[in-house]
Amino acid sequence: MDMEYKDTEVANAAKYLKAKFVGMEDKKAILRDPKLLALYQRIKIVNPNERAAFGRELNYLRSELETLVRESVTSNLSPVTSIDVTAPFDVNVPYQNRPKLMPAESGSRHPLMTELELILDIFGRMGFTAVESRELDDDWHMFGSLNFPAEHPARDDYDTFVTDEDLVAPAHTSTMQNRVLRNHKADLKNGQPIAVVIPGRTFRNEDVDASHEHTFYQLEGVYVGRGIHGGHLVATLKAFLETYFQQKLDVKIQPFYFPFTEPSFEFAMSCPFCKKAGCAICKYTGWIEILGCGLIHPNVLKMGGIDPQAYTGFAWGGGIDRLVMMKYGIEDIRHFHSGNLKFLRQFA
Ligand code: DAH
Repeated sequence: MDMEYKDTEVANAAKYLKAKFVGMEDKKAILRDPKLLALYQRIKIVNPNERAAFGRELNYLRSELETLVRESVTSNLSPVTSIDVTAPFDVNVPYQNRPKLMPAESGSRHPLMTELELILDIFGRMGFTAVESRELDDDWHMFGSLNFPAEHPARDDYDTFVTDEDLVAPAHTSTMQNRVLRNHKADLKNGQPIAVVIPGRTFRNEDVDASHEHTFYQLEGVYVGRGIHGGHLVATLKAFLETYFQQKLDVKIQPFYFPFTEPSFEFAMSCPFCKKAGCAICKYTGWIEILGCGLIHPNVLKMGGIDPQAYTGFAWGGGIDRLVMMKYGIEDIRHFHSGNLKFLRQFA
């Protein structure tokens, strides 16, 4: 539906605007084009007896442009076809048009998982079975069953994430201790010790930086039997660390406080990288504090259904990320969860 514009200015503008419209990306912008706006400015100055006719032509031009805009929008919409949202891609397209999936041979295991397997293997050979931790637990397992008195300030060391239903994202793998004691206490009656390691993801509301993540991995260990003492604890951890770092190490323990062990210790090893000469990894002290440990508190044994008069045990818990970072010289803990392929492929 074309109309002959009588007014030459309108006619010229119409020709110009329609030609310009074809190449425009933002079609609606044609309605704000300076050429069109200038015509509106002219209404005030045209000869009063031509004004009505001019206004009519101008309105007509505008409605023509509006029609063009409307049509361009609808013609850009492709017809809706149904899709199978469960398919990884449209299985009916020819092979060469399918999305390129990453070739499987470019994938690699995550360094944390590779190391975890190695760690579990070492403990496995020492007679420990492995039980996985969980990613959601309750306050009782996280604190109560571990002898944290209600409202005790020691709870503040664990800045937890809590759901609206008062479930806790475990801040340590110790959250599993009570279950392990209960599930394995029959072993004691059969004359077997309880020897379990518990790897798991742990969560803390940390300010994230190069050495702190909100999500990290821990390995817990629990050993209970008759006549178990601190010497067993030190020897077990020393044997593990020497196997993991493949060298002789010195170890030392310093008194510490955990509500679930008595006595409690911080466990340090001689720096496996500089052999105590002093380096950046041990901060020039020759020693690296590696985990928390102690002899299981009688209250914790009791809550696990074990008689603390008859049995004693030790437990420990330590971060896996830090161990792996030290071993491979990884300078920033955030690499682990970054999904950065350049980082990950170094461990292929
Ligand atoms: N759960 C402690 C933490 O995350 C570490 C720990 C210390 C675990 C002593 C233990 C232990 O089993 O006996 O800080």
